[in-house]
Amino acid sequence: MIIAPSVLSFHFDKFKEEIDILNKKAEFLHFDVMDGHFVPNLTFGPDVLKAFRRSSNLFMDVHLMVEDPDYFSDIFIKAGADGITFHYESFDDIIKCDLLIDKIHKKYIKAGISVRPNTDIEVIKPLLDKIDIVLVMSVEPGFGGQEFIQSTYDKLQFLDQYRKEHDLKYLIEVDGGVNDKNAHEIIQSGTDILVAGSYVFKGDINNNLDTLRKCK
Ligand code: DX5
Ligand code: ZN
Repeated sequence: MIIAPSVLSFHFDKFKEEIDILNKKAEFLHFDVMDGHFVPNLTFGPDVLKAFRRSSNLFMDVHLMVEDPDYFSDIFIKAGADGITFHYESFDDIIKCDLLIDKIHKKYIKAGISVRPNTDIEVIKPLLDKIDIVLVMSVEPGFGGQEFIQSTYDKLQFLDQYRKEHDLKYLIEVDGGVNDKNAHEIIQSGTDILVAGSYVFKGDINNNLDTLRKCK
């Protein structure tokens, strides 16, 4: 099980204190990059990732919620990303998704594909034999602190079953509304990577990360 705390909920005024905890207790750091167009919110650029990179060896997991993932993938790879996940809906075109995956792989970076809650998971089937990560959005992308959407479980079961049937190795990542109440069922449905923002950073981060890990 991989825990990916979301930088969206990080307290920048307590940088040293919080990054020290994450370095000990998490595997990934999840960066939600939003451009104010693909989603109605604007977050951070590559310098923020560089600042974290100077204090952490965690896997830098970049989630692009942007209209032009081709452009932003280059920028975040240069800044030190280990994985770039982009949205199918940024292109709505399998060939374009396929080309971007190849471009990311040429830089020796992991490539991930994500779908919004209302997108049929089966549209990305043609990419499943080459993708490293499938990120299932369990809330509408744009903001932290929303409630987990129950229909996510069907998508997870599909992805887990498809992976077994075709002997594929992609990791399944869930993003949005993850907490200590639903983490067990999410993991049992085949999820490898849990993104969690508001749950991890509210109150005692150490305890929250320990609790989440025990939900397995
Ligand atoms: C939402 C982001 C999530 C968000 C999750 O668009 O992709 O990564 O930070 O936040 P919580 O865990 O608060 O739902
Ligand atoms: Zn995210």
